[in-house]
Amino acid sequence: MVDKAKIYQIPGLEDGRKADEPCTIVIFGASGDLTVRKLIPALYHLYIDGQMPESFRVVGFARRKKTDESWREEMRAGIEKYSRTCNVNDSQWQSFSENLCYHCGDLTDAVAYDALAGRLAKFGDSQLSRNLVFYLAISPSLFGEVVDQLHTNKLLKRYEEGAAQWQRVVVEKPFGHDLKSAQLLNNHLIRHARERQVFRIDHYLGKETVQNIMMFRFSNAIFEQLWNREAIDHIQITVSEDIGVGSRGGYFEEVGTLRDMMQNHLLQIMSLVAMEPPPSLEAEDIRNEKVKLLKSIRKMTPEMVSKNVVRGQYFAGTVNEDARNGYRQEERVDPESNIETFVAMKLFVDNWRWSDVPFYLRTGKNLPHRASEVRVQFRPTPNVLFAAQDNLDLHANALTLRLQPDEGISLRFNGKVPGNSIQTRPVRMNFGYDAEFGAYTPEAYERLLLEAMAGDATLFIRRDEVETAWQIVDSIREGWGEIPLSNREFYAAGTWGPVAADDLLKVDNHLWHTPVPANK
Ligand code: BG6
Repeated sequence: MVDKAKIYQIPGLEDGRKADEPCTIVIFGASGDLTVRKLIPALYHLYIDGQMPESFRVVGFARRKKTDESWREEMRAGIEKYSRTCNVNDSQWQSFSENLCYHCGDLTDAVAYDALAGRLAKFGDSQLSRNLVFYLAISPSLFGEVVDQLHTNKLLKRYEEGAAQWQRVVVEKPFGHDLKSAQLLNNHLIRHARERQVFRIDHYLGKETVQNIMMFRFSNAIFEQLWNREAIDHIQITVSEDIGVGSRGGYFEEVGTLRDMMQNHLLQIMSLVAMEPPPSLEAEDIRNEKVKLLKSIRKMTPEMVSKNVVRGQYFAGTVNEDARNGYRQEERVDPESNIETFVAMKLFVDNWRWSDVPFYLRTGKNLPHRASEVRVQFRPTPNVLFAAQDNLDLHANALTLRLQPDEGISLRFNGKVPGNSIQTRPVRMNFGYDAEFGAYTPEAYERLLLEAMAGDATLFIRRDEVETAWQIVDSIREGWGEIPLSNREFYAAGTWGPVAADDLLKVDNHLWHTPVPANK
């Protein structure tokens, strides 16, 4: 049983969360980027922070021929290059890496799974060989095959609540490319595992500040009382990236920003911002509320899509003085591609709390800088007292939850400028995580791996969440149909997206809030 009391402590404090039961993590796709850049660095940091179980193993499963030793060396180099500390301590590495081994095999070859079963059995500890986290860092087209093979080799079975030993399957996005494919994928995944054994990752949920959205809302009476249509004019969610598609042109041609970012990260943030308070902090209660919220998002007809959704694609430009190619010139991209690298949209939540409050979401590649934030714009005061004042700079209150980088929260209100006039100016109250808690910035994957080992699914996406999000996204894609991008939908790299995205707000007399660059 998960100890909920521990989860919501401030991480990094002495009595922080720890995975208690011995277990083995088998990573499928051990030669891939995710393993070397994120998974092993996360496990290493959990280890040095004392959060791994006393006894654990990590088995890297992949096709390329490698020895335990050569794989460990690669992983060490990965930590030095990509991890948040870029630093490996020799003696800590020595004791950590003794638990790492490499298993060479083809994902479609039954013999490789038989050998894996033999290897796990040799760990000589029933918990290490039976408490298993299977991490599928591989193409979703192979998920079904791997799960079938694991089942055939008796490595994965449906288990009852409270069983002495457990197996879990952790899967990476994308979960399908539309509702239908997601349903097929989910059906396949749960053929040999119960839903509660499946942990679908959205790495945004592992980010400290994304987790804090819920804590902030439900532990602060002054804000929660205002968190509704009476006080809030609209909400903006921006996730901007200052990188282009880089070497992922091939992937992006299949996916586009709507499916890559909106379907998951932005809709997840929105559901945390807008959901009703759950009856408890249990995973199912929280996820029920998120699903309810997603289901309340107004469905869009093609006509509504043309009014409420803007897509864009970057052309050549400059980001931070760095010249960038246009999307159509990127590697493995069709020179006439109509794939979107930017999406902005206006959504409505048809429930009691949010009726008629617009939620504006936007995300894109090659924007001026990297920043993710939720901006809650409150209603203005009645225009009575100050109506006669010329040049009065009166702003509506706004609350900004800054998710990354420079994580923090700021509240804007009006202050009187000192002096004889009654001039006002917007001022801010700022809270910065670093200043308050020190530079504790665990990677999202640390938290997610820890939770998968501890068996808490709160930060993972349930089947109905994924499928409901696909319904929203599918209706938008249906609205776009085969219509090519128009001139108004292109934007120069290094700008905040196409003009049409500004117009989306202008018609409502709103403006996008421009996130401040890091450390300014
Ligand atoms: C991934 C997307 O899920 O999130 C990428 O596939 C994107 O396209 C990335 O760049 C952004 O994540 P982060 O943590 O850098 O904001």
